[in-house]
Amino acid sequence: MQNTQPMISSQLARKLKEQIGHELGAHQQYLAIGTYFAQQNLDKWAALFYQQAAEEKEHAMKIVRFLVDVGEVFDFPALPAASTGFQSAAEAIAKALEWERSVTAQFQDMAKIALAESDFVGFQFLQWFLEEQVEEVSSMEKYLDLVESGINLFQAEALLEEEG
Ligand SMILES: [Fe+2]
Ligand SMILES: [Fe+2]
Repeated sequence: MQNTQPMISSQLARKLKEQIGHELGAHQQYLAIGTYFAQQNLDKWAALFYQQAAEEKEHAMKIVRFLVDVGEVFDFPALPAASTGFQSAAEAIAKALEWERSVTAQFQDMAKIALAESDFVGFQFLQWFLEEQVEEVSSMEKYLDLVESGINLFQAEALLEEEG
């Protein structure tokens, strides 16, 4: 039976539908960064960013499953193009850090909306993402520091392995 009473606020639902696009956009951006490294035979750096890309797709799927569960209807947005033409590893990773910071701001805005609308189901759902963003921003900062240290990127792969 179709719900007549929406489970989450319509304003939050609209933001979450947009967020699917941001997460899938991040998926594609990370594929581009991974490919940038793969093109230079920096295979462990490539694997790290391809893994990150897979996580972003999973973030999108988490939102998709949630929206379906709460009875929302939606389409998928067009994604922005993602170029692999970075000037340096530092530029690629700085870009990633910038996206992660903007995604953090997007989830903070959604949490504000959920609280303002007394949408406790939506607010609860957002907790996982807020926590995840702390980790994502922190690890991108770490990778940026590593490449900016001037270490040879092939030698740095040994450090990536240790971090697992
Ligand atoms: Fe994400
Ligand atoms: Fe992310």
